[in-house]
Amino acid sequence: MNNLLVIGTQWGDEGKGKIVDFLASAFDLIARYQGGHNAGHTVYLEGKKVVLHLIPAGILHPDKIGVIGNGLVIDPAAFFKELDDLKSIGVEVEAKRLVVSRSAQVIMPYHPLLEKISETQRGKKMIGTTCRGIGPCYEDKAARWGIRVADLLEPSVLREKIEENLAFKNKILQAFGQPALETGPIYEQYKRFGERLAPFVKDVSAFLYEQIKAGKSILFEGAQGVLLDLDHGTFPYVTSSSSTAGGVATGLGLSPKQITAVLGVTKAYCTRVGSGPFPTELKDETGAQLARIGDEFGATTGRPRRCGWFDAVAARYACRLNGVDLLALTKPDVLEGLPEIKACYAYEYKGSKLKDFLSDPYVLDNVRPVYRTFKVWEGSIHHLRSEEKLPAGFIDYLKWLEDELETPVGIISTGVDREDIVFVEDRISRLLGDRAEELLVGH
Ligand code: GDP
Ligand code: IMO
Ligand code: MG
Repeated sequence: MNNLLVIGTQWGDEGKGKIVDFLASAFDLIARYQGGHNAGHTVYLEGKKVVLHLIPAGILHPDKIGVIGNGLVIDPAAFFKELDDLKSIGVEVEAKRLVVSRSAQVIMPYHPLLEKISETQRGKKMIGTTCRGIGPCYEDKAARWGIRVADLLEPSVLREKIEENLAFKNKILQAFGQPALETGPIYEQYKRFGERLAPFVKDVSAFLYEQIKAGKSILFEGAQGVLLDLDHGTFPYVTSSSSTAGGVATGLGLSPKQITAVLGVTKAYCTRVGSGPFPTELKDETGAQLARIGDEFGATTGRPRRCGWFDAVAARYACRLNGVDLLALTKPDVLEGLPEIKACYAYEYKGSKLKDFLSDPYVLDNVRPVYRTFKVWEGSIHHLRSEEKLPAGFIDYLKWLEDELETPVGIISTGVDREDIVFVEDRISRLLGDRAEELLVGH
């Protein structure tokens, strides 16, 4: 086993940051392949909360290299703020430890403005985006208007591209009552960004190829989740990138054969930020309780997350789409605060039972989840670190979940700290091979 993909199996915020941070010690490089600073990956470093948005969560390990692939959209101001924030907590990220793709797209000042117009235009059907300019930047990539990182390093190209873009975008901004933007100040600002970014910039595809040839291993860090994927998520209530396994090859310039295994991160209940269908959503006191106990507030926007029961129909779909080899179950400790636990294993739709997920909102808005009810297990798993101590009732729940998803669980997260983790040792060893030793011994 050389390169592992860590992917969210729900609507994001499954706890990918924590799992990546934990696994990072067994890998040489940690690479993001899609998304931007819409992501918020929380890690606790010596008890202190750190939220990463654009920079891979593995960067908190001082001997690891972070990689930002061509599949990302980068807001340079957000990038530098994140570097500065890391520095302020004693995490120095020099250019030799962080590589940014020449071909990644750049978020420009007009992107968030256009996003606001687009969201307003949708009215009640607004997507509820993070308003970071992510969607419009990906739109420009697909429409071939985009400005790439390498362009920031070529002043004449940069100026020309800004001029061309503004000649078009200003017409839209003005049509919606917004003032036109001027080339000069944007050019000056982004030229300076380019100068500061230059030491980090590389041909990521070629760089990773050399690293792999030299025997180095990569942990691919997915952002968002399968159900927010542009193609396979609950379109149009999705993000604008390929968060599924398919995004790794295009987003880093690697052969798909380089993904040696896939680990799916799944929360023991569901959450969603923004609009869109959510069959198991709880709009009652139980939902509020989950939000309270699970501290479910967006790591990026601070918005309250919608909460609901675990949805095995959706998670089964995520496992199938991505070939998930092993699951990491996060936040089961949160369920201990409830009087009983429910999990959905099928939908009722137009009089028949569905076990396969359909991504269309007009279907999902009209399904009725079919639930199995569990008693809360006796004994707490909060902060547990060893497999032998897992309560029998929890193991029953786990077995049910594995059967429903047709995928084994190899990691159980039992709290926010790096060390709050239980391994199913033989499964982790089988998945990670030699790499598992370091993790298991150090744990
Ligand atoms: P990500 O976007 O997938 O990285 O997830 P977020 O960081 O946005 O949200 C996950 C939240 O759950 C963070 O606040 C984590 O600190 C927290 N978390 C992760 N694993 C556990 C766990 O096992 N138990 C509890 N109680 N909290 C957890
Ligand atoms: P992580 O990596 C949860 C959601 C937004 C919105 C939709 C589109 O922390 O799991 P966008 O700004 O991407 O165009 O918004 O996607 N969204 C996320 N929800 N976790 C995330 O990232 C998200 N990134 C985007 O709330 O519904
Ligand atoms: Mg998050």
